[in-house]
Amino acid sequence: MSICYLNGNFVELSKASISPLDRGFLFGDSVYEVFAAYEKNLFRLDDHMERLKKNLESLSINIALKNSEIKSILQKVCEKNPEENQIIYLQISRGAEAIRNHIPIKETQPTIFICSFELKNVPSEKNDPITAVLNPDIRWKKSSIKSNSLLANVLYKMHANDEGYDELLMSDDGFLTEGAVSNLFCVKENKVFTPPLESNILPGVTRKVIIEIIKDINLSCEEVKIDEEFLFNSDEVWITNTTKGILPVIEVNNKKIGNGAKGEIYRLVMKAFLRKIEDCII
Ligand code: PDD
Repeated sequence: MSICYLNGNFVELSKASISPLDRGFLFGDSVYEVFAAYEKNLFRLDDHMERLKKNLESLSINIALKNSEIKSILQKVCEKNPEENQIIYLQISRGAEAIRNHIPIKETQPTIFICSFELKNVPSEKNDPITAVLNPDIRWKKSSIKSNSLLANVLYKMHANDEGYDELLMSDDGFLTEGAVSNLFCVKENKVFTPPLESNILPGVTRKVIIEIIKDINLSCEEVKIDEEFLFNSDEVWITNTTKGILPVIEVNNKKIGNGAKGEIYRLVMKAFLRKIEDCII
């Protein structure tokens, strides 16, 4: 049994329902956030809330709940579910209307839904490295918005899965953007590189944490355009996101990256990332 929050109530997930006329369903007119909770402590909650606020503003969706109220609901969902480590999804759509129309009605009340699942991939030094495949980035030009219009990402993940890869990396005009569900880092000669936020990518919370870590351990992290050749000649490649933390990519398009194993810089950064997780546990 899993407890979720829907429009003011905590209910069993199997009993929660929304209208088929919800604009999230009809138009993908909605945004979402994904939070990791370690031993029931929400990791980097303020960073996620800040991104959520920006996303809601960019869609002109106004919700009645204050930031502090959302935080408290998230904590409650976390408490009400039994798993120690959880992945919590917060979905906010513009709401349901009586008639389908692209143009929304101002008075429509947003739908707010929060659900939780067990976080299965708790970051660990023992995590297995992954493989990836490179594809052109076919997404719209506002991928910085964490929108539920995730069709391209779904098709990418289906493709990667069918072909036996763990993740799909995207490049636009020869320059890497990000993964289908992750941000991207490359290491060359002990320097770390990641595509800049201006390259139509999601401003990942994990990306932000990793950049902080790299600077803390006195390595350099440059936010610069990365071309495909640079990727294939990197000593290390990593992907980062809330559900998996940080994972080394040891093969792209069946070509070995570096020596085809977890890199030394990865190990250092991972150790520091695990310390950040420990620090959030009270
Ligand atoms: N996705 N880029 C894309 C396209 C993503 O979908 C994600 C995360 C990230 C990393 O963002 P963060 O570090 O804030 O999780 C980057 C989540 C996990 C998802 O859609 O489920």
